[in-house]
Amino acid sequence: PFPTLYDNHGRPLQYLRLAVTDRCNLRCFYCMPAEGIPYLPKKELLRYEEMERLVTLLAQLGIRKVRITGGEPFVRRDLVPFMERLSAIPGIEQLNLTTNGVLTQPHVPALKAMGVGTVNLSLDTLDRQRFLQITRRDEFDRVWATYESLLEHNIAVKINAVVMEGQNIDDILPLVELTRHQPVDIRFIEEMPFNGEGNHYPTLTWTYKRIFDYLRTHYPDLQKVEDHPNSTAHHYVVPGYQGRIGIIAAFSRTFCGTCNRLRITAQGGLKTCLYDQGVLDLRALLRSDASDEQIKTSLIHTFRHRAKDGFEAERQRTPVTESMATIGG
Ligand code: GTP
Ligand code: 5AD
Ligand code: SF4
Repeated sequence: PFPTLYDNHGRPLQYLRLAVTDRCNLRCFYCMPAEGIPYLPKKELLRYEEMERLVTLLAQLGIRKVRITGGEPFVRRDLVPFMERLSAIPGIEQLNLTTNGVLTQPHVPALKAMGVGTVNLSLDTLDRQRFLQITRRDEFDRVWATYESLLEHNIAVKINAVVMEGQNIDDILPLVELTRHQPVDIRFIEEMPFNGEGNHYPTLTWTYKRIFDYLRTHYPDLQKVEDHPNSTAHHYVVPGYQGRIGIIAAFSRTFCGTCNRLRITAQGGLKTCLYDQGVLDLRALLRSDASDEQIKTSLIHTFRHRAKDGFEAERQRTPVTESMATIGG
């Protein structure tokens, strides 16, 4: 096993979120405008071999868990064989996936076979009409088929639901009710300003506190359960229910002190915080004649100069122009 690397604030770096594409087959309004975002030309995306090299090096620096994100990962061709190769890299103990579920169902057996333990499924509503309103695509049925298939194959599912005033407040309780008979996690997420429209920071109406109070009003006996030390979600259960309920303070950022995550964007930008604007151009490094040792040295240097909170460090000065699809969530 490779030793763990710590940043300059004493936080271990063990979790990589790797965006394999910026493209998506949905148009969730909190992520992109209706016309989509200007997609990157192919040659500006990291190639699979480049990503494999990076993951190999990062594993040697202590990364243990890799999450594949996008855009929508399954929009990229040959994702499954790529994931199979990643899962075999020495040091990588967990390979997970965040997907919108539209194209995922046929691949569920392959995910199971390669040992994917958890799939995080983006699903903000259980109502077909509201799904269409939020994502601008009528794909609820295919997403639901993915959900059922994941459960059938005993792959743990975490549903991600962004909580939005005027959109899916009526879905909060039905989503909680999924945890009654199924061992599924439902996580309610604060909306962040990454919608590809160059926003300034909005006033967040559904804060984690408000989400919690709403849940507490409807489930007075809601109980806190223990969280993984590096979890972004605070977890609860309704006594007697099988699954858990999480709240992710993605905008309030209550969890920066224990953040163990790195991000690589589809074009090979390294981020040490979701809110920073990229701290190392890995694509340029990979396409130079840098040796593995030189790349690792650059990575280590970057980790040793990591901002405590990328939002505090730079976002207050600049408006957000990215979409969540280019960041990888
Ligand atoms: P687990 O590995 O299951 O804990 O998943 P995860 O929460 O890391 O990943 P997922 O892709 O399901 O993300 C759920 C939500 O949490 C998304 O909206 C993410 O953008 C948000 N999130 C994840 N990591 C961070 C982070 O480091 N900072 C902030 N602010 N939000 C995050
Ligand atoms: N705010 C909060 N969460 C978002 N996601 C996408 N855009 C936003 C946003 N603006 C979530 C999706 C997906 C996860 C990776 O990020 O729901 O599940
Ligand atoms: Fe696609 Fe996810 Fe963005 Fe929705 S939130 S448009 S599913 S990348």
